[in-house]
This record gives sequence, structure tokens and C-alpha cells, in this order.
Amino acid sequence: MTSIPPMPENRIFSGIQPTGNLHLGNYLGAIRNWVTLQDNFESIYCVVDLHAITVPQDPKALRQSTREVAASLLAAGISPERSILFNQSCVPQHSQLAWVFNCIARLGWLNRMTQFKEKAGKNRENATVGLYSYPTLMAADILAYRATHVPVGEDQKQHLELTRDIAQSFNMAFDVPFFPLPEPQIFGSATRVMSLRDGNSKMSKSDASDNSRINLTDDADLIAQKIRKAKTDPDALPSEAAGLAGRGEAQNLVGIYAALADSDVDAVLSEFGGRGFGDFKPALADLAVSRLAPMGARMRALLANPGDIDAILADGAARAEAIAAPIIDQVNDIVGFLGAGNR
Ligand code: TYM
Repeated sequence: MTSIPPMPENRIFSGIQPTGNLHLGNYLGAIRNWVTLQDNFESIYCVVDLHAITVPQDPKALRQSTREVAASLLAAGISPERSILFNQSCVPQHSQLAWVFNCIARLGWLNRMTQFKEKAGKNRENATVGLYSYPTLMAADILAYRATHVPVGEDQKQHLELTRDIAQSFNMAFDVPFFPLPEPQIFGSATRVMSLRDGNSKMSKSDASDNSRINLTDDADLIAQKIRKAKTDPDALPSEAAGLAGRGEAQNLVGIYAALADSDVDAVLSEFGGRGFGDFKPALADLAVSRLAPMGARMRALLANPGDIDAILADGAARAEAIAAPIIDQVNDIVGFLGAGNR
């Protein structure tokens, strides 16, 4: 067997689906951390169009959505020079490694995945095989680069645990310390941003009500209106975090404020404790507009030149493939495939 290249020390990989508008949860739970991390880590960020087709997509809309998500990431501050930004389907090593991982992962492991249960709903027999094996492709995304760190929101934690199980199982099956066990990076005061209409369900692209989320494309008026309409309770805000227990909506809005202000929940409550939502909501709306509206404007400007976005993605894909190709060659060799390099 050819010698194994050294394990990278600090390599980040993360992904985002191009299925509709990005929202505040994506931004606070993931994207803004990606922006910060790109200064200290080798960073690879991917628009996961292969994952998107695990549920039916209109081809034209998927292409447009892929561009829009890339534009949002650029508008949020991802630098195509300091990071690698590309769309998943352009780097074939993701699918290649996913197949190998399909032959490592166990049915029992996939049966435990809560995201599959949520997305498949009651009619599980009708879900695609792709939706079921979604997490093995996600493991392949990360491990095709032997990434060591994965910045994500809280909801992806279980998929990361599975990625570690797959990595460990591969290493044990072939008795080589080939894959790292990647660490999830879940930080900030908004690792799980909840719906504005229901403090018990996650802010999500798939929620039928647009008022449940703030989209990164919403203009200032719409952002302010959605915050005004956000569900709350009649009580004043407490002065300490413990007082938010059992008040899902209040907790969510305070968490969002803290994240947008680069502060923490205690500091926000020491300012707003004892005051009602009539005071708090306008302050939150001003803060959200000042942080988000310029990003939406930058995104719209970028989308005026779609060719530029496509060129950034193509360049990113070439750079990503240059990293992944030798790693997958090694995997093929380890697994025992007869091919170029070992004939
Ligand atoms: P996706 O597209 O659903 O979400 C992208 C990122 O946004 C985070 N996020 C949230 N964070 C806080 N509160 C919320 N309400 C919220 N909603 C979404 C997600 O945690 C995620 O970090 N399976 C992934 C995409 C993926 C991936 C990967 C991620 C594919 N391959 C490899 C990391 C590494 C997903 O569906 O994310």
C-alpha cells in the first residue's frame, strides 16, 4: 500500500442545503461562525446540492437556489480567497466515498437518525433511499477532506456523532488510523434558533409560515414586521437567565438578541430585565435590521452577476477536488480496489 499522507491538524468542513431561503437560524447557528473561523483554519464550505435532491427538486429552481445560497455566503463574509467555496455535485469524490460509507454504516445506526424520521414523516415507505442514507453522504463530505472540525448548529450533532462512528469503524475494519474523528463546533448563544411563531420548534426553511423565520433576503420593513408579530407571553423579561425557563418564546428572542449583539443572555437581561416586550421588540428589530439588511442588499447586488458566482464556485470545486482526489485514491487502495497506482 502507498504511504499515508499526514493528517491535517486544523481543517474545517461545513455544508448548507440549497433548498429555499437561508434564515436567521442558518446565519446565527452556522454561517457567521464560518466567517470567523476562516481566519484561523483551512476552511472548506460546500453548498450541498446532492443532499438537496433527497427530496424532489425542480431542476431550474435548484440551480437558482444553489447560486442564491452561494451569494448569501459571500454576502455574509465568506471570502473565496481565504476559504474554498463550491457546490457538492462538482466534486465527484463525495459520491464515491459515500458509497464506501454505505458499506460501512449499519442499518441500526441510520434507523436512529431523528432528521430522517422528521423528514420522512408518517409515510416512511415512500421516502427515497437517498433521504435514508443522507448521513453517510454527509460523513463523506467531511471525511473526503479528512476534516478535523465541523461548525454546525445543534440540530446536526447527531449526524456528526454518526460521522465519527463511520470514521472509527473504517479505521478499525482496515486497521489503519486513516480518518480523523471530526469534532463538532457548536458555539454562540443561538445554536438552536426557534420559530418566531412557536418557541418549541426549530426555525426552518420548511415551515409553511414565512412569519416563523427571518430570511436573509428580507428587507428592513419585513424584518421589523416579523419581530413585531413574533409570539411572546404577557410577562416582563426576568433579570436572570433562570427566569426564562419554560418561556420558550422569550428565551428564543433573548438568545437572538444576544447573538446579534455579540453579547450573552446575562448581559441582555441585565439591560432589559423587568421590561416588557413592548420595549424589547423594537430594540430587537433595530438590532436585527442593522445586522441583516446590509447583507440582503449585498446578496442582491452579487446576484446581478450570476456568472461571477458560477466562476467562484467552479474555482472552489477545482481546489476542493485537488484535496479530495488523493485522499479518495488512498481510500480505494485501502479498501482493495484494483486501479491506477496499484496495478
Ligand atoms: P442545513 O442546510 O439544514 O443548515 C445549515 C446550517 O445551519 C444550521 N441551522 C441552524 N442553527 C441554529 N438554529 C436553527 N434553527 C438552524 N437551522 C439550521 C445547521 O445546523 C447547519 O449547520 N445536513 C446539513 C448540511 C450538510 C453538512 C454536511 C453540514 C451536508 N453535509 C457536512 C456539515 C458538514 C443540513 O441539512 O444543514
